Amino acid sequence: MSVRRPSPTRTVQVQAPVIDHATDPVHGPALADAPEPLARDWLPAEGEERMLMTLATVGRDGFPSTRTVMLSDFDGGRFHFHTDTRSRKVADLRADPRVALTLLWPAFTRQLVVQGTALPVTPDEAADAYARRSAYLRQLAWVNDTTMARRPLRAREERWTQFAVEHPEPEPPDTWVGYAVRPHRYVFWVSHPAAPSRRLEFVRAPGGWRRSVLPG
Ligand SMILES: Cc1cc2nc3c(=O)[nH]c(=O)nc-3n(C[C@H](O)[C@H](O)[C@H](O)COP(=O)(O)O)c2cc1C
Repeated sequence: MSVRRPSPTRTVQVQAPVIDHATDPVHGPALADAPEPLARDWLPAEGEERMLMTLATVGRDGFPSTRTVMLSDFDGGRFHFHTDTRSRKVADLRADPRVALTLLWPAFTRQLVVQGTALPVTPDEAADAYARRSAYLRQLAWVNDTTMARRPLRAREERWTQFAVEHPEPEPPDTWVGYAVRPHRYVFWVSHPAAPSRRLEFVRAPGGWRRSVLPG
């Protein structure tokens, strides 16, 4: 019998925003004139629940490769996420740093798509993000490897419990790494209950951003 437990990551509780479409900066009449303040306005503030995003990399076989990661932080210009140096995504990024991100809000309200370049953050930045992770995620970064994945469940549970006892305050493992995505394109999508959805696109251009209104 399965036992229902609360989520150990506490990342997926972002609420649907309440949108006033008459004044919304994507629906107009006054449009946002730069992407960063709008992204800042949409994304959770420091201390709030983290959002999830789909991270697409260019696979070494040429196919797109996607997975869900947590948005650790938006620093006003770059989207940060953290991962394991042994992962497929890191191998992809070392060969080609071009990425796309999709962030989706509940209840068909908003979507943000970003294309950009992902570069590793400094070890200090990565350690700082590690310290802000939940105890579950700090431990996961240590024990979530291929050897562990191949063990039977009972052995994995025992290792998990043993690690927590032996390392109540773990430091980041050597395999912990952070990346920051610097966008060259943002696309903000906002729904509307009584009109077509609409997108506002910003493409980085010499001296600023080129803005376009697109169909939803
Ligand atoms: C809700 C959720 C959140 C996740 N957050 C992360 C994360 O922040 N970092 C990460 O490396 N993997 C995260 N994962 C696991 C990834 O989706 C993926 O399975 C793993 O990183 C291996 O991906 P790769 O083989 O493409 O590198 C998360 C998965 C889920 C379902």
